[in-house]
Amino acid sequence: MSEQGISNLSTEERRFDPPADLAAHANVTDATYVQAADDRLAFWAEQARRLDWGTDFEQVLDWSNPPFARWFVGGRLNVAHNCVDRHVEAGHGDKVAIHFVGEPGDTRDLTYADLKDEVSKAANALIDLGVQTGDRVAIYMPMIPETVVAMLACARLGAPHTVVFGGFSSDALSSRVDDCGAKVIITADGGYRRGKPSSLKPAVDEAIAKLGDASPVDHVLVVRRTGQDVQVTQGRDVWWHDVVDNASPEHTPEQFDAEHPLFVMYTSGTTGKPKGILHTSAGYLAQSAYTFWATFDHKSDDVYWCTADVGWITGHSYITYGPTAAGATQVLYEGTPDTPHKGRWWEIVDALGVTLFYTAPTAIRTCMKWGEQIPAEHDLSSLRILGTVGESINPEAYIWYRDTIGAGRTPIVDTWWQTETGAHMITPLPGVTSAKPGSAMTPFPGIAADVVDDSGTPVGDGEGGYLVLTEPWPSMLRTIWGDDERFKETYWKRFEEQGYYFAGDGAKKDEDGDIWLLGRVDDVMNVSGHRLSTTEIESALVSHPKVAEAAVVGADDETTGQAVCAFVILREAAGDGGEDVVAELRQHVAGQIGPIAKPRQIMVVPELPKTRSGKIMRRLLRDVAEHREVGDATTLADSSVMDLITAGLGDAKNDED
Ligand code: PRX
Repeated sequence: MSEQGISNLSTEERRFDPPADLAAHANVTDATYVQAADDRLAFWAEQARRLDWGTDFEQVLDWSNPPFARWFVGGRLNVAHNCVDRHVEAGHGDKVAIHFVGEPGDTRDLTYADLKDEVSKAANALIDLGVQTGDRVAIYMPMIPETVVAMLACARLGAPHTVVFGGFSSDALSSRVDDCGAKVIITADGGYRRGKPSSLKPAVDEAIAKLGDASPVDHVLVVRRTGQDVQVTQGRDVWWHDVVDNASPEHTPEQFDAEHPLFVMYTSGTTGKPKGILHTSAGYLAQSAYTFWATFDHKSDDVYWCTADVGWITGHSYITYGPTAAGATQVLYEGTPDTPHKGRWWEIVDALGVTLFYTAPTAIRTCMKWGEQIPAEHDLSSLRILGTVGESINPEAYIWYRDTIGAGRTPIVDTWWQTETGAHMITPLPGVTSAKPGSAMTPFPGIAADVVDDSGTPVGDGEGGYLVLTEPWPSMLRTIWGDDERFKETYWKRFEEQGYYFAGDGAKKDEDGDIWLLGRVDDVMNVSGHRLSTTEIESALVSHPKVAEAAVVGADDETTGQAVCAFVILREAAGDGGEDVVAELRQHVAGQIGPIAKPRQIMVVPELPKTRSGKIMRRLLRDVAEHREVGDATTLADSSVMDLITAGLGDAKNDED
């Protein structure tokens, strides 16, 4: 096209057909959907058997105790063997697994044979540090090859990892280490970000100190990346270059049960306490590997690049596990897209001949702002498929991405999924789907999703409602770490009668039945494709001695999708808070959670709008934050509050840097 005169068509009518040559050789075709619909479990069994099993499974799915699923019952395998060793055994040891690009410009290629040695050495070193099957290991790292190696080494030992995003504060790290009882933390002195070394190890020291005698951490394994000064605690801290580099590259992986825990990934929910999402081995690996292969139409000579950080689920499923299980060659880039210049990504695409590129809408909008002359300086003709994840992509950014980065010929896969789903759930497929900008289109083969109304009844085409998953899927979360009740309550209670998983997203079906995501329907914000909880930031704000009360809302933002806007009431003793109270509070939130949670704007107000039962009416605050006329305020306990708030804002201390 396939572009049918965009300007004359409404959004829902724009379509981009798959390029004929891609469709002709696509990994997945219409027949795949038919086959999966015919026998969903047989379909997933077939995909799972693409993996190497020590013991084959006897039953595809045990759903006798919902919502606790067991997939590939009786089977045994080793995840790291599947991601690494088997490719070497199949004769692909010389194939590049990772093209690493450091922010300062250093590069390093790891072949699958290198990766096997590194993962084995790291596994042996972890054993020497006392890590046994079932022990938890926290990983707090920059985007360097050792991070992937560390994750795979944990997988090899059956020691579930919890990767904590390097941008999180020591408090966030500490609570996660505590919640999952991590015995070892793997970290680095620091990583390079925006042209400077940015330290990590001090936050680890602080996190452990905060836990005091209750700290479960026996050892800290430290990679030297930046050469920054590191305080070494004797007997606890060891250097990677001492214990891993000198370890044996021989390690025989053990086979673990298909349901053996693989990792815990913390994500924000509607309360202040992050949820430890538990993923297990075989189902997770089967679906992340198969969706990688299918959604990106992966061919053995592709060069794939996902720009996500491994600290998020996207980095788990589509850097560490899916692509390696598929034997792919991928790029791993350490830094930010604008360092040392705004063309950095496109320079890398050009230099390494990237063919498959996966990023977030917020990054695309940022590149749009920088201007199309920047990517135009590089040869991007190697690209054949572009992907997005994290939020709906607005049609304008979609068209820019397709035209400016993809020269108008690359299909775009808009992949909807979640930390909880583990892998792609709703997405166009590049060789099959006529994609519409802004729509995630249709459930992946073997996945059952629907849009339902309040009572759980599917809505008709052209109508909106709640997005649900109506059948279990292999890479589904198995529970919330240590909290089965919260797992049931959060995801399964809303549509208990029907047995549906409630995703927390609103959605609509268009006239063709294609799915459009409409954003969260709960108190979860989506800032630059990252989930943040309003409650978590409110708790951080009220933990400051000057703050009496706080309410946080996500307001529309041109670049980041949503932005954090906070309304605070100061304690009387704090007076007007002083000149820099807003800056002080923003810094406080960054310290409590991490810089990504820093409110874009903090408004000091005399009151907050509450219902008679005391619930804060965020809807009204969102109106204020988005500079709209305030909506219906009749359910407020005190209807004059909104006048007070809006009147006071003229001279309120705002800070929007
Ligand atoms: O609201 C949806 C949005 O991101 C949420 C999941 O966030 P998280 O668990 O952090 O995982 C992000 C990466 C998978 C969802 O509930 N979301 C994710 N992808 C899309 C999306 N919303 C619309 N379209 C998408 N493609």
